[in-house]
Amino acid sequence: MSAQQQVQHLLDFVDASPSPWHVIKSVEAQLAGFNFVKLDETLKWTLEPSGRYYVVRDDSSIIIFVLGQKPLVETGFKMIGAHTDSPGLRIKPNTATSIDGLLRVGVEIYGGPILATFTDRDLSLAGRVNYKDAKNNIVSSLVKFDSPLLRLPNLAIHMNRMVNEEGLKLHKQNELPLILSTLAQECLPQTYFLELLKGQTACEIERILSWDLAVYDTQKGSFWGAENEFYADSQLDNLASCHAALQALLDDELLVNENTLVCAFFDHEEIGSESNRGADGSFLGDVLKRIALVTENNEEDFTRALAKSFMISADMAHAYQPNFPLAYDQDHKISVNKGPVIKVNANHRYSTEGVSEAMFVDWCEQACVPYQKYAHRSDLACGSTIGPITSARLGIRSVDVGNPLWAMHSIRESAGVLDHSYMIKVLKKFFAQ
Ligand code: CO
Repeated sequence: MSAQQQVQHLLDFVDASPSPWHVIKSVEAQLAGFNFVKLDETLKWTLEPSGRYYVVRDDSSIIIFVLGQKPLVETGFKMIGAHTDSPGLRIKPNTATSIDGLLRVGVEIYGGPILATFTDRDLSLAGRVNYKDAKNNIVSSLVKFDSPLLRLPNLAIHMNRMVNEEGLKLHKQNELPLILSTLAQECLPQTYFLELLKGQTACEIERILSWDLAVYDTQKGSFWGAENEFYADSQLDNLASCHAALQALLDDELLVNENTLVCAFFDHEEIGSESNRGADGSFLGDVLKRIALVTENNEEDFTRALAKSFMISADMAHAYQPNFPLAYDQDHKISVNKGPVIKVNANHRYSTEGVSEAMFVDWCEQACVPYQKYAHRSDLACGSTIGPITSARLGIRSVDVGNPLWAMHSIRESAGVLDHSYMIKVLKKFFAQ
């Protein structure tokens, strides 16, 4: 595949995955093409040599693994971690209200989005609805409204004269509700909203018990630039890394390997990773331990395997934007289309340390992939990733890397076409080591 085709494949993946729950569905669809078997955490596992498996926890985190031909104590686990969630707006439970002839839905802020970018966009809803089926079981169903359903219209500049001097500020409680409809007088707002959901789920509305719904941008991904050398879409942080890791893994040659390979994509990174399925939860440790024990290793073997293991924590990095030079450390400007970025932070906001950094450089060189090194401005607070958390919980060596991205946490982020294929290449090299 050309770099352009790889990015088109990424954009199709992102556009089919407007919520973390849809991300898992999209990943599972790709795994099905390579004969991966889904495991249930509540059942007893039997794992075949060189088997391909995956485990989903609570519909929005997934761990995929391929058993290697060599014993785990010799190879350890070779892992790539990324996250399935993106910052944005989520729908509150008692969401629909009527005011001045308009029906609005109340939202909560999930993680740290750039709120101003959510104004004047063709927004819609995606996520899961939980309801009781005919047998009285609680089941979940994915929902996705394809057409624009919601909008956050800006205030005209005539009423906000200083917007270009002071920036667009939105009050988080009062100024974020999204407009859904001009409501007929006789209709109850919440009933109207439930009717809409019903149309997407084929279940009776009185049986809907709860939902997990995200607001998403219906605009599809696009290429841009004079040579189409850039691309833009929502949720590139961090679906671009999930996609790169998956493309690195799903390679017929790699899938029959000496090494045990793992891709772990977690929900809840944007809100601190502390949940049953977040990187700071038990999910990865539980699955790795089970792999070891089911393949006839004892506790000590498992600890030895962890000591041999390595994780690449893949998350996007801050590309240099020349209009805002003062935002960057002038000696660590990273350029779009100049290769994957190794993220370094002395306070361990990134998990990179000297040795893991050197190892990643080596893999890049072996793969003939250019690389760059990033450090945040010393006078600015640095963001973090799942890298330090998983590295600390499991006691394994880790490096934080990612591709350059403009406008992180905007509803429309953009990045470089070449970087995506570079990343896939170096991740493949890591898995094959
Ligand atoms: Co991220």
